[in-house]
Amino acid sequence: MDATTALAVRLSHQSVKHLWDVYSRIEWPDTLDDSAWFMPPELCSLYGTEAWEELDLPAQRTLSRYELGNFFSLTLQGERPLIQGLVNQMYSRRNPEVTEYIHHFLDEENKHMVMFADFCNRYVGKVYNYKKLVLPREYAKGEEDVTFFIKVLIVEELGDYYNIAMGRDKRLHPLVAEINNIHHADEARHITFGRRLLKDLFEEFAPTWSAETLAGLRSWLGDYMRSSWADFYNPSMYRDAAIPDAYPARQAALKHPACRAHRERASERLVKYFLDTGILEQAPEL
Ligand SMILES: [Fe+2]
Ligand SMILES: [Fe+2]
Repeated sequence: MDATTALAVRLSHQSVKHLWDVYSRIEWPDTLDDSAWFMPPELCSLYGTEAWEELDLPAQRTLSRYELGNFFSLTLQGERPLIQGLVNQMYSRRNPEVTEYIHHFLDEENKHMVMFADFCNRYVGKVYNYKKLVLPREYAKGEEDVTFFIKVLIVEELGDYYNIAMGRDKRLHPLVAEINNIHHADEARHITFGRRLLKDLFEEFAPTWSAETLAGLRSWLGDYMRSSWADFYNPSMYRDAAIPDAYPARQAALKHPACRAHRERASERLVKYFLDTGILEQAPEL
């Protein structure tokens, strides 16, 4: 049994051992009071900018509610294409052991979507949507799978940085911490699996690609990371939180050095993986 298959078997055992039910695991209070933070201030997208400094404490906390709603929505909306693509990876593309783990992966992602949607609809009043333009294109052999698992890893690794930080933050409502902890427990396995499979695929196919294909993939990866980050600065969420000049506030935050430093910090583990595996040759500008 090769190392990736053995890993899939081990992860499947773990998924069975830690099986949970999304309909009974969480107690949902009718309301969550506004005196606690929903997202820690340092993780709010406007933190460190002038727009943030102009808000009083209650307004910052209100923004943190919508910031959390945006983060949970982003995760949920990122899990939709992930589920679609994972289904394509099953029986025909992967061996029975890996296919079995993908069944757990799908089950867990489906529960995450139910959980995040429940939270957002109850306490934020909505699930946010994001415009994603997918242009049809030709792929070199193996490139479509490599691209898919890069997208999976980006949504999961960036999300996990937030989950870990929020899961242990005592300033947050305990329900918020709990949801982040539940998600992190499953995601730790998904990330281990995704990192391994992506490395295998890259090592198998990248040597067969032309220099243009490889350069094209690397430049797309940088663009994809920047566009993933841009969704954290959602003008609709700023408007819902009554931030004056929502769109200029977004543009200022995207350019602000404090926000860029945050993006680099939160992406550090992911970028290191891309550099270590040779998927990237240099860290992208974020
Ligand atoms: Fe998830
Ligand atoms: Fe996941």
